[in-house]
Amino acid sequence: MPHAGGRHFLQIPGPTNVPDRVLRAIARPTIDHRGPEFGKLSREVLDGLKEVFRTTSPVVIFPGSGTGAWEAALVNTCSPGDSVLMFETGQFATLWHELATRVGLDAEFIPGDWRHGVNAGEVEARLREDREHRIRAVAVVHNETSTGIASNVAAVRKAMDRAGHPALLLVDTISSLASIDYRHDEWGVDVTVAGSQKGLMLPPGLSFNAVSQKALAASKSARLARSYWDWAPMLAANKTGYFPYTPATNLLYGLREALEMLREEGLENVLARHTRHGEATRRAVRAWGLELVCQEPSEYSSSLTAVFLPDGYNADEFRKAILDRFNMSLGNGLGRLQGRVFRIGHLGDFNDLMLAGTLSGVEMGLALCGIPHGSGGVSAALESLTQAARGQSANRGAGA
Ligand SMILES: Cc1ncc(COP(=O)(O)O)c(C=O)c1O
Repeated sequence: MPHAGGRHFLQIPGPTNVPDRVLRAIARPTIDHRGPEFGKLSREVLDGLKEVFRTTSPVVIFPGSGTGAWEAALVNTCSPGDSVLMFETGQFATLWHELATRVGLDAEFIPGDWRHGVNAGEVEARLREDREHRIRAVAVVHNETSTGIASNVAAVRKAMDRAGHPALLLVDTISSLASIDYRHDEWGVDVTVAGSQKGLMLPPGLSFNAVSQKALAASKSARLARSYWDWAPMLAANKTGYFPYTPATNLLYGLREALEMLREEGLENVLARHTRHGEATRRAVRAWGLELVCQEPSEYSSSLTAVFLPDGYNADEFRKAILDRFNMSLGNGLGRLQGRVFRIGHLGDFNDLMLAGTLSGVEMGLALCGIPHGSGGVSAALESLTQAARGQSANRGAGA
C-alpha cells in the first residue's frame, strides 16, 4: 500500500502493535545459540515468563505459532484414542477440537452457541457421568478470540474438583495472557497454551506451554507420537539455558524486552488497563445501538470486543471501507460469524488515546457506510476513560 500519512492502526485482536522498544531489541545481531551470552538470555526469559503465567512450573518455549502449542499440549499428555472433553465456544475452540481429532484423540465437543463461555455446571455433570475416568483431559479456550468471550477457568477447576475427576486441565490463553487475569498455579491448570503475538506484544513466531508437575508425570506415559513438540528434550536442554534445536534467537531478545516492559508497568496495572479499555469500548457499542456477540456480562472479554452489524450490512465491506479511508485494520468475523461481525482488538501495547482513535474510526466508518447507529459512542467511551483517569488520580492522591 502506498504511504498515506500517519501510522497504521492495527486493531485486530492479534497480532498486536509491537512497541518500538521490542522492535529495536529484535533488531540486535543474532548470536551463537550455543554460546554463553545466549545461555544468559534464555535463563532470563524462561524465569521471567513464570511471573506472567503466575506459576513456579517450567514454561516451554517453541519456535512456532499458537497452533503448535495446542498440539504440544495434547501430544505430550495423551495416548491414542484417549477421550478429551472440549467446548464449542467459537472458532478457536472448533479448530482445537479438529486438531485433537486429527492427532488421534476421541475428542468430545460439547455444543455451544458462540455467545457464551464454558458452562462449569456442564463440565461437572459430564465428568460425574464418566465413572470409569476415561476422560483424560478437559480443554478450555480461556478467551475466545472469535467472539470476545472469556470463560471462567477458576469455575471450571472447581467443577472438576467437585466431580472428583482426575482429568488434566488444559487452557488456551493465546488472547488472554498478559491481558486478562490468569493464574496457572492457583487455578490448578496443568497445561497453559500461549502465543507471542497478543498480550506479550511480540510479533508472531513463539508459542508456549506452562507445564504442571501432574502434566509432566502424565507425559512420561503418554503415547501419542511426538518429536518436534516433545517437552522432554526441551526441558532437559533448558536446565542449562539451551534448546534441543535452533531457537528463535531474535524473538527471544524481543521477549526479554517485553517482559521487562510488563514488569515496569506492573502486571496488575496492565490487566486494569485492559479492563478499562474493554469497558469503554462496550459503552461506545451500546451508544451506537449495536449488539455484542457476548451475551453474558460476567464473560465480557477485556482484550477484544466482537460486534454484530445490523441485518443487511456486510461486516467485511465495512472493514474494507475503514481500512481504505482511515488506514485501520479491524478483525473479521470468523467461521459462522463471517460477514456479520467485526472485532475491535484492544490488547497489547495500547493506551487511552489509541482507543479513542480506534473508536473514532469505527464511528466514522458506520456513518460512511450508511449503517444505522446511535450517536455519541465515542463520547460515551471518552467519558468512561475520563472517569477512570479521575479515579486513578484520586487513588494516587489518597495514597500520597
Ligand atoms: C484463542 C486462540 N487460540 C489459538 C489461536 C491459534 O494461534 P496461531 O494462529 O498463532 O496458530 C489463536 C489465534 O488467533 C487464538 O486467538
